[in-house]
Amino acid sequence: MDFKQYITIVPNWPNSGIIFKDITTLMGNGEAYKAATDEIVKYAKKKKIDIIVGPEARGFIIGCPVAYALGVGFAPVRKEGKLPREVIKVDYSLEYSKDVLTMHKDAIKPGQRVLITDDLLATGGTIEATIKLVEQLGGIVVSTAFLIELSDLNGREKLEGYDVFTLMKY
Ligand code: PRP
Repeated sequence: MDFKQYITIVPNWPNSGIIFKDITTLMGNGEAYKAATDEIVKYAKKKKIDIIVGPEARGFIIGCPVAYALGVGFAPVRKEGKLPREVIKVDYSLEYSKDVLTMHKDAIKPGQRVLITDDLLATGGTIEATIKLVEQLGGIVVSTAFLIELSDLNGREKLEGYDVFTLMKY
């Protein structure tokens, strides 16, 4: 399937000069959302995944249907103050700011094989921080999977040494 036809390009959002790739039109089409999910599932089946990890909010949209299809669990990565029990934390940089990502301390068991999912690989900062959390808990990051890769921002270089699967490149 040509997935790009379901992505809506939004110029100058959220800031002037940014050409935003809106995935909600792909999600809103049942056939396209299923086909995109199926591609990641097909890929993940080869990797013997024990659990999926995704950062809020759009990582959930990609990761949860994949977890359901594989019959494995899903562990959320959330911004600080959102998870109710004991967490581990990592600082990370966004384009114009800093933030903190957290995971429950017992979300991953040591040695579990993890697939990390998100909608978009841009600078790679979000996934780099997510990898740190997973590895701190003793998880093995087997692969990372995204709908979209923004090649100019070199996120793939930041994830050197890790397996990166993307459905669309811009
Ligand atoms: C967006 C996107 C990825 C991240 C990619 O999330 O969904 O998680 O940015 O950028 P990076 O590779 O440069 O880190 P955002 O931080 O906007 O959060 P949201 O999904 O909750 O809106």
